[in-house]
Amino acid sequence: MAEVKKERLNIAILGHRFMGRAHSNGWAQTTKFFDPAFEPVLKVACGRDEADLRAFAGRWGWEEIETDWRRVIERDDIDAVDISLPTFLHAETAIAAAEAGKHVFCEKPFAIDLAEAEAMLAAAEKAGVVHYLNHNYRRCPAVVLARRLIDAGEIGEIHHWRGAYQQSWLVNPDHPIDWKLRKATAAAGPLWDLGSHAIDLAHYLVGDIDAIGCRMKNFITERPLADAPGKRGEVEVECAALMTTEFANGALGSIETTRYATGRRNRHTFEIYGGEGALAWDMEDMNRLQFFSQKDPEHARGFRDILATERCHDYVKNWWPPGHIIGYEHGFVHAAADFLDAVAAKRAGAAENPITPDFRDGVRIARVLDAALVSAGSESRFVAVAKG
Ligand SMILES: NC(=O)c1ccc[n+]([C@@H]2O[C@H](COP(=O)([O-])OP(=O)(O)OC[C@H]3O[C@@H](n4cnc5c(N)ncnc54)[C@H](O)[C@@H]3O)[C@@H](O)[C@H]2O)c1
Repeated sequence: MAEVKKERLNIAILGHRFMGRAHSNGWAQTTKFFDPAFEPVLKVACGRDEADLRAFAGRWGWEEIETDWRRVIERDDIDAVDISLPTFLHAETAIAAAEAGKHVFCEKPFAIDLAEAEAMLAAAEKAGVVHYLNHNYRRCPAVVLARRLIDAGEIGEIHHWRGAYQQSWLVNPDHPIDWKLRKATAAAGPLWDLGSHAIDLAHYLVGDIDAIGCRMKNFITERPLADAPGKRGEVEVECAALMTTEFANGALGSIETTRYATGRRNRHTFEIYGGEGALAWDMEDMNRLQFFSQKDPEHARGFRDILATERCHDYVKNWWPPGHIIGYEHGFVHAAADFLDAVAAKRAGAAENPITPDFRDGVRIARVLDAALVSAGSESRFVAVAKG
């Protein structure tokens, strides 16, 4: 049978390190395992370090390289821009890309502040382009299963959300200050970086957050400077944040984000407790969802451990037979496939942006983060315990 050639969509990627690699793999694998509406063409990769960039492009199959992102966005032959840059560059690049009519695939945290987030959404909506914000954990089959169980009423009315995103890399006092530890480039510390993921999952699984209280802490305030060997500087962002949340539907929640959880390398977890049941998930064991149901006979009640690798679980039938688990990088392949389909839906006349999470979710998350920062800066909302 003759091969049916797909229409091609030219992608440009900005950034070529951690996320540059994860996204390149996503684009490269998508048509191997899924059947998206377009064949993505890895057209041009952009970064600052030309030698590294050339090696990256060669390894991943990007056709061309460019060191100035503006020149990439100006090109007529680019259909979509993938923003895998540090957070402070998201707004400028996303707005320029949208204004140039490019569809935008953007990494999180969405923006440096709420004003930037709103400007990004306005630009994307005005331009009528597809906009996607890469909170990749929404595309883990076990997380989608949690949403399906909630939607089916299996856990009843939700009372509690407990989210935590814990890493440990700042426990090392020699870890240098890079863009992630500066306010101007990262906005905040784990509150922004990890908290945006936790808040996105809270929005996805529980609903809107109405109010938030936040306490932030710095344990090591001075570190070596990554860009000035031998010199030290002040850490400008918090190292850990603890939040309490009230949801619009009445649920009560907590969110913990830290880079000081010794031994926890990338522990992203949630627990959800409802009137009829409960759910729990841990990124470091991401194929499994724990589910407790009050409907089970009393003598057999307990958390069951669902391995979300059956063909009925979202995305799974395109991969391996049941029990053959998938990993972190698969969420990026799912996002790439969904993004390509969203571009097709948009071209076919979809009125709404046909993919989530999107820039609207980015603004929703930015509002919560903004409120958390206000709370953290307000000592009066923390009550000192009387001394004995
Ligand atoms: N979704 C996730 O799981 C996840 C994980 C890690 C990071 N992120 C996010 O992805 C984004 C990128 O993070 P990272 O860890 O890949 O960062 P990184 O520091 O590893 O890489 C940044 C890249 O941006 C390039 N760059 C920086 N300034 C540039 C400029 N002016 N012009 C062109 N290129 C420039 C650098 O050359 C580098 O390739 C951040 O927003 C981060 O929060 C998301």
